[in-house]
Amino acid sequence: MALKIEAASKDIAEIGDKCIVIAFFEDNLKLNKDIASFDKTINNAISNSIKNKDFKAELNEVKSFYVNSKKLDYVALLGLGKEKDFNLNKLMDAVSALSKKLRGMDIKSFSIYFDSFKNKNFDFESYLEKIIQAAALSLYQFTRYKTKDLDKVKRVDRVNIIVNENDANKAKKIVDETLVYAEAVNKTRDLVNTPPNVAVPEYVADYAKEIARKNGLKFTVLDEKQLEKLGMECYMAVARASVNKPRMFILEYNGKGNENPIVLVGKGLTYDTGGVNAKPANYMVNMKDDKAGACSVIHVLEACAKLKIKANVIGIGAMAENAIGGNAYKPDDVLKSYSGITVEVIHSDAEGRMVLADALAYSLKFKPKAIVDIATLTGASIIALGYGISPVLGNDQELVDKIKHAAEKSLDRVWQLPMPEDYEELIKSDVADIKHVNSDIDAGVIVGGIFLKQFVKDAKWAHIDIGATVWAKQEKGYKIKGATGFGVRLLLDFLRER
Ligand code: BES
Ligand code: MN
Ligand code: ZN
Repeated sequence: MALKIEAASKDIAEIGDKCIVIAFFEDNLKLNKDIASFDKTINNAISNSIKNKDFKAELNEVKSFYVNSKKLDYVALLGLGKEKDFNLNKLMDAVSALSKKLRGMDIKSFSIYFDSFKNKNFDFESYLEKIIQAAALSLYQFTRYKTKDLDKVKRVDRVNIIVNENDANKAKKIVDETLVYAEAVNKTRDLVNTPPNVAVPEYVADYAKEIARKNGLKFTVLDEKQLEKLGMECYMAVARASVNKPRMFILEYNGKGNENPIVLVGKGLTYDTGGVNAKPANYMVNMKDDKAGACSVIHVLEACAKLKIKANVIGIGAMAENAIGGNAYKPDDVLKSYSGITVEVIHSDAEGRMVLADALAYSLKFKPKAIVDIATLTGASIIALGYGISPVLGNDQELVDKIKHAAEKSLDRVWQLPMPEDYEELIKSDVADIKHVNSDIDAGVIVGGIFLKQFVKDAKWAHIDIGATVWAKQEKGYKIKGATGFGVRLLLDFLRER
């Protein structure tokens, strides 16, 4: 059963559930009137554990106890740390720690007392939103390919959020909308986590087609013959060594009459071996995540339809597999891109930008108001900003600023890197118009951006490099080991803020 999250107004003394959750700040351990009278009904369990320092409300601390009450099995106290240091990231961490702890205790349903999160910086909407996101994202698990011990997998079925009576309607609307976000992230995680022998380009295109059918989106797909015929030599060069043929799909959502669309372009490499410049084994493993950009685009479009957002949005997924074969493209090849620009190949592992060059140029046919691409483009993004922040680059500051703003709201963090004009000499070629990488490893992220920039002409464009943020090696808060779904909340907040 999928996780259900609901908001309801209830008297704290009347909550009948497996567990009730009350949050505290380290520097404000007083019980309000309602909690104090509730505490009396459970033999002062809360005040006692505070008094004897059994619970100190340190950030992410979870203290639970069994209460012998008709209506309740457990009370859980959640620590939020110091009030002045608190923020939305910490809120998500705390609720994630809580959710996973309660799941570990096999508690299938719990109620969160929303009022207990109030503090000087409290904001109803963002607090509610982040609590829901944290619960839904942190309880994610990918078990599709497990066959053993499935009966031992613990699941939470329901999370209730207890709000005041006059906030109930407002809360229900926020819950419904936020669940669309959470579902979009988790479905993106599922698709990215799907192994590369299953999730080949055609599989992902068919998946997108099904999403389109269910949500009333327009769907188009171009196969290898059509891509070839269109003259997408850069895209086809990457794709042609694989038996799993490329697919470029286009999803169209219409929510604002005949306004020019915002086009989202996702890199969709279902596997990246590196090509003839093969990756060493420890760098190749996990390269199924190289399709994450396209996977996010699919679910952002689905969410646009579900939320009925007021914008026209087109999503393009450029699917291919970068394989090794006798007909593979190789360094020194010169290819004519869809835009007409000729490209000298330097390194077959810089394949994402080759595919995107043609997909971006193709996107111009929709006369976009703005183009945003999302791509696992570089390992250099890991060096530049680490696993928690994605580089963003673009040719229009206003557009980049909107993405930065959405990043702050969504908590999918970005940091802008520049594309100085004089760095364009890094992609100067002796034989073709440009080369796709520089011959050294300096400024890897920026060079990726500068290369892509050549193909969008004068359209407003931004590029989000999710090479680092796409995958969680270790579990951390709501980031579960595996695909993170980074960028989905970011793009949705970006589209909705416009
Ligand atoms: N898909 C990779 C980038 C990547 C690396 C994503 C690690 C996630 C984790 C991309 O196609 C790639 O191989 N980039 C090369 C570019 C280089 C050859 C210029 C890289 O970053 O090493
Ligand atoms: Mn590569
Ligand atoms: Zn790649």
